[in-house]
Amino acid sequence: MKRALKALAWTAMAGLVLLTIAVATRRYWVPERFAVNVPLRSLTGSGPAAGADPGASSLRLPPGFALTRFATGLNNARFLRVTKRGDVIVSQPREGRVTLLLSDANGDGVSEGSTPLLTGLDRPHGLALKDGYLYVAEMTSVGRVRFDAAARALSGSFERVIVGLPSGGNHWTRTIGFGPDGFLYVSVGSSCNVCIEQDERRAAISRYDPSTWQGKVFARGLRNSVGFAWRQANDASAPELIATDNGRDLLGNDFPPCELNRVVEGGFYGWPFANGDRVKDPDFGAGHDAQIAASHPPIHRFAAHNAPLGIAFLDAPGTTAAFRGAALVALHGSWNRTSKDGYKVVSLHWGADGSITQRDFLTGFLENEEVSGRPVDIAQGGDGTIYISDDYSGSVFRVAPGNRASPFLGSAPAAFRPPESSSGAASGAAAIRKGAVIWEANRCETCHDPKVAADSPVRTTKLLRGLAARYDVERMVVYLRAPQPPMPLFELSDEERRDLAAYVLDRFR
Ligand code: HEC
Repeated sequence: MKRALKALAWTAMAGLVLLTIAVATRRYWVPERFAVNVPLRSLTGSGPAAGADPGASSLRLPPGFALTRFATGLNNARFLRVTKRGDVIVSQPREGRVTLLLSDANGDGVSEGSTPLLTGLDRPHGLALKDGYLYVAEMTSVGRVRFDAAARALSGSFERVIVGLPSGGNHWTRTIGFGPDGFLYVSVGSSCNVCIEQDERRAAISRYDPSTWQGKVFARGLRNSVGFAWRQANDASAPELIATDNGRDLLGNDFPPCELNRVVEGGFYGWPFANGDRVKDPDFGAGHDAQIAASHPPIHRFAAHNAPLGIAFLDAPGTTAAFRGAALVALHGSWNRTSKDGYKVVSLHWGADGSITQRDFLTGFLENEEVSGRPVDIAQGGDGTIYISDDYSGSVFRVAPGNRASPFLGSAPAAFRPPESSSGAASGAAAIRKGAVIWEANRCETCHDPKVAADSPVRTTKLLRGLAARYDVERMVVYLRAPQPPMPLFELSDEERRDLAAYVLDRFR
């Protein structure tokens, strides 16, 4: 008996020692993609406003345009395409859904209703319409289904034509678009903030031949080009591929710039060795002078951390002269600046000499550090109408020619209020305890350490706060299934996500 007890004590002790070693060395065995590959300097941050809504009336456009809130209640509204009939297709990756928003039929600027087109997909994001098919990019694949725009109907089954794209990491969204060459371009962002990638398709745009669905990398060194589109400079020249790119984090409030690049076949655009105009990266630049010298600098620089996402060139017949040929770019907004920046749509105007001028187009989502919206993508219909998605308020806005202050703007949907009972069963003490272990094992603290002074000059961490006002356990589980990049995607079970949700909602009420 005594012997058995002694053996048990030894086993427990050995277990404890192993556990201590595992915890102490976890930075060496935790998957690379979850690591922030820079010294963790000051750790602090400021989150988006806790569901605050200063009211959509603060939104402003240049003269000659009228704004309406076309559709609401679209959680995680991301990419957009306008059909030949004038309906709008919107992807909702966190919901696993692609939704059809019916065009405005009675002239009030508001959609006549919505209907799900595809459900149960794996984080559907990028969309394309071509030759009677709707193409959808999921996290690791691209699929297509026959789509009759006039009848607003799908037929046949959803068939995956490209599979095995790299999965997860910091940037799980996939963007697609058909080029003038008929090939399908697929953008896959980096797995990390800054690192050497193992998979060459990451931080790159690849190009696929639709007759074989074979593809190869088209351009590299693009950290996260979420938006791209073709620009027709003039009738004589071939269209140029123009892509937005999000600069790396943790180098301060004002560096590096986010980028607009003219993407050419075989081009290298700098990441992770250089940022902006070939400025050597402090963590990864050393020893790569030749690659940096050969890299393409951006053709336009956005302010640091503005996070340019979708881009669309205004080329539909109805476009007013001052905007014909201009691009609209959605600036999703910063998460790590001392004062927030971005949160608007800008227009880019090309001069005859190739210079680019940036002007505000849709502003007012950010007022006194309070956020009411985060623009994601832009699409123009054949009649010139412009649509803009917002994944913060879950809306799609509509911009049409006109000057009257729109009576149909309405205010942002009411802030989410969790039901009274949500502090009950699911967030019980046992779940919170299990959630704390999952938080620790996945090193959530790396990017969410609240123990750091709020007055640090540079924000390198996202401070979690006011979560209970915007999430309940189920909503948090949905968030964790497809978190907002650059928050990494963690491959957890929904049960683990539920425990983790209970923990974060309890700790960061
Ligand atoms: C590599 C850094 C990083 C790691 C690791 C990380 N996060 Fe995040 N997280 C972020 C960033 C950045 C944001 C803000 C993204 C944005 O909104 O632009 C965020 C946002 C969030 C939000 C939403 C906050 C809000 O106000 O809506 C939650 C919740 C969250 N993280 C939980 C977690 C949990 C739980 C873990 C561990 C499993 C974790 N994070 C790990 C970077 C990280």
